[in-house]
Amino acid sequence: MNILVTGGAGYIGSITCKELVQRGHRVFIYDNLFNSQEKNAKWGQLIVGDLLDKNLLTKTLQENRIEAVFHFAALIEVGESSKDPLRFHLNNVVGTYNLLEVMVQSHVKHIVFSSSCATYGNAEQIPINESNSQNPVSVYGDTKLYGEKMIHHLAQKGDLQGVVLRYFNAAGADPSGEAGECHDPETHLLPLVIRAARDPHFTLKVFGNDYATKDGTCIRDYTHVSDLAVAHAQALDWMLQSQKSFEAFNLGSGEGSSVFEVIAAVEKCTGLKVKYTIYPRREGDAEILVADIRKAQEHLGWSPQLSSLETVVRTAHQWHLKDNY
Ligand code: UFG
Repeated sequence: MNILVTGGAGYIGSITCKELVQRGHRVFIYDNLFNSQEKNAKWGQLIVGDLLDKNLLTKTLQENRIEAVFHFAALIEVGESSKDPLRFHLNNVVGTYNLLEVMVQSHVKHIVFSSSCATYGNAEQIPINESNSQNPVSVYGDTKLYGEKMIHHLAQKGDLQGVVLRYFNAAGADPSGEAGECHDPETHLLPLVIRAARDPHFTLKVFGNDYATKDGTCIRDYTHVSDLAVAHAQALDWMLQSQKSFEAFNLGSGEGSSVFEVIAAVEKCTGLKVKYTIYPRREGDAEILVADIRKAQEHLGWSPQLSSLETVVRTAHQWHLKDNY
């Protein structure tokens, strides 16, 4: 198929492009290169553009006879979103609105949308399943929920078919070392733990050791980015043979790891000591987020292959050894 990948030069987007190309799809990457780099746009034809540019979006969909869209492009930092909410609404909500409007006008019928466990807000039970209520506690989570709702409304009306994928914590790197995590500034745990092992001048801040968890630190579900990429491709296959117009799936490993467990895994993998100090809790951090992934397993036939903490850490470390941070 001819597929448009918005945000295809980003971390999860680029590795998904690789998966789609390997499966024989023709990929067009639509990215404003704001939080991503041109060198990541290796799998597909890059069109440098913004979701706010409806004319370029229309031209891109129509000239390339796009049949399906994978929509990754978004601002992603939860903490930033409360400092500058309008920027997040413009980019994530208006950007998604524009994309959907142009898709409907151009009769592009299929969309796979990058959503987040941040749309759930507080977990009613752990592991979290898809029927957990959606009451985000961050502006970022709200913007992702609005995206889900817009797609749902259009799907109910029969304008398109949509699959929403709610990721837990994407981590790790392409096992062949061709792509990995590289944000500037970096705020995610694993790259920072690796930096705190390798860089003598960098000390990790551990945000809180007084949570009601086994060791006092927050627990997250670290999911290998290549497993996420496979799930995207399988979501498209599922959508094409499904009668359903809209469905949401959690994507996670199904296992929780604490901050201290991530530190220990990095120390084991690198043989280096991770320097850290305990800081107060970070605003907006949930205590425990772990996915119930049975729905994706049953319907998409997806099963994470690389999401053990050991493999996540090993592939991330290999990527960072190439000085990709
Ligand atoms: N953490 C630290 N020190 C750091 C960075 C993180 O202790 O320097 C801790 C956090 O407090 C948290 C855990 O490590 O407990 C993971 O934090 P990340 O920033 O790596 O990831 P988040 O869970 O905050 O955020 C991720 C994605 C978001 C997504 C969110 C859903 O990055 O895009 O999960 O909750 F929305």
